[in-house]
Amino acid sequence: MRTVSIVNVTSYTALELLRLLNQHPKFLVTSVTGRSAVGKRLEGIFPQLHAVLPPPGREVPAVDPALVITEEPAQTDLAFVCLPHAAAAELAVSLLKRGIKVVDLSADFRLRDASVYEEWYKHKHPAPALLETAVYGLCERYRERVRTASLVANPGCHTTTSILALAPAMAGGIVGPNVIINSITGISGGGRTPSLSYHYSEANEDAHAYSLEGHRHMPEIVQELEAVAEAGGHPVKGGLRLTFVPHIAPMTRGILATCYADLLEDEHGRLPTSEEIRSFYRQYYVNEPFVHIVERPPHTKWAYGSNHCFIYPIVDGRTNRLIVISCLDNLIKGASGQAIQNANLLCGLPETMGLAGLGVNP
Ligand SMILES: NC(=O)c1ccc[n+]([C@@H]2O[C@H](COP(=O)([O-])OP(=O)(O)OC[C@H]3O[C@@H](n4cnc5c(N)ncnc54)[C@H](OP(=O)(O)O)[C@@H]3O)[C@@H](O)[C@H]2O)c1
Repeated sequence: MRTVSIVNVTSYTALELLRLLNQHPKFLVTSVTGRSAVGKRLEGIFPQLHAVLPPPGREVPAVDPALVITEEPAQTDLAFVCLPHAAAAELAVSLLKRGIKVVDLSADFRLRDASVYEEWYKHKHPAPALLETAVYGLCERYRERVRTASLVANPGCHTTTSILALAPAMAGGIVGPNVIINSITGISGGGRTPSLSYHYSEANEDAHAYSLEGHRHMPEIVQELEAVAEAGGHPVKGGLRLTFVPHIAPMTRGILATCYADLLEDEHGRLPTSEEIRSFYRQYYVNEPFVHIVERPPHTKWAYGSNHCFIYPIVDGRTNRLIVISCLDNLIKGASGQAIQNANLLCGLPETMGLAGLGVNP
């Protein structure tokens, strides 16, 4: 049994971790921290935890509803850090010093270059020395490195959706450097802290684009898609030219990214068909338990509540563009499910352990 802490348990990602970990046969949550909730019991904050039952094969639940929320995390094998950026990096330093492995759900260790982080996050990186050892926790790309890491940077939600959508095309040199991504997120992507634009009467029956001046997930997508192209032997000359436009829609969870890129001719001057691309994508993800190439445009509801990502590539024959539509649950494959995938690898457990659940639909 591995013991885990959840730091900032009053966040949405932490709440989702509690739900998923309660189905996990090998993790035991022994420490939960919070800020405003210090001194309260978990069940006092989240009454639904009264209903926890032990997972199959265990006598006690993985989550004890009577666990008291503390200010500092106790000594555990691993910590999930669900803090906002900057606060997360500061805590990660002390956790690592105590020999605790860290899965950080914030953006603090996702960008390899501290100056890029400082440009997008508008403050000095709190722990630049850790950037070299941090591993970007997109398991589909870096699982071997995650297995031997101490610090994993769990990828962002828009970024996971977009990178999984375009990685095969970039790795295979199928598309050129001009890429457009329209990515729709549900309201929980904004977190649990109340704000006017997430207020029910503002958000309900409304949809809009935001962060057109540059969303913080953009450099992460560029960094990883350029790396995947390079690794596939098709480096992007002059760098990726990405237009990334996030949108918010009135759904609680879910991300749906529609990605567009110009198809490149092969050495015989031929463009691939939709069937060829789909078969290439299927082959690329053949061993991936959580990535599925589907035969029609996916719905966010297919992924709601699960760690799965659904991807539909198609050729637009009128413009010779590749269109790839990808969706997942922002709080699971886009956050806490992926964090458990990483924690499994860090602890030498099967990557899919505790994550077998299907989505909830309708
Ligand atoms: N939401 C998503 O879909 C998603 C997806 C991927 C990654 N992430 C990342 O995961 C992390 C957690 O996000 P979330 O959306 O789950 O969180 P959240 O719901 O926004 O959690 C915010 C809670 O954190 C506490 N908090 C705020 N600032 C704090 C600070 N400086 N120190 C300690 N506690 C603080 C507040 O609780 P009190 O005021 O009650 O203390 C607040 O209720 C973030 O880094 C986020 O970027 C989120």
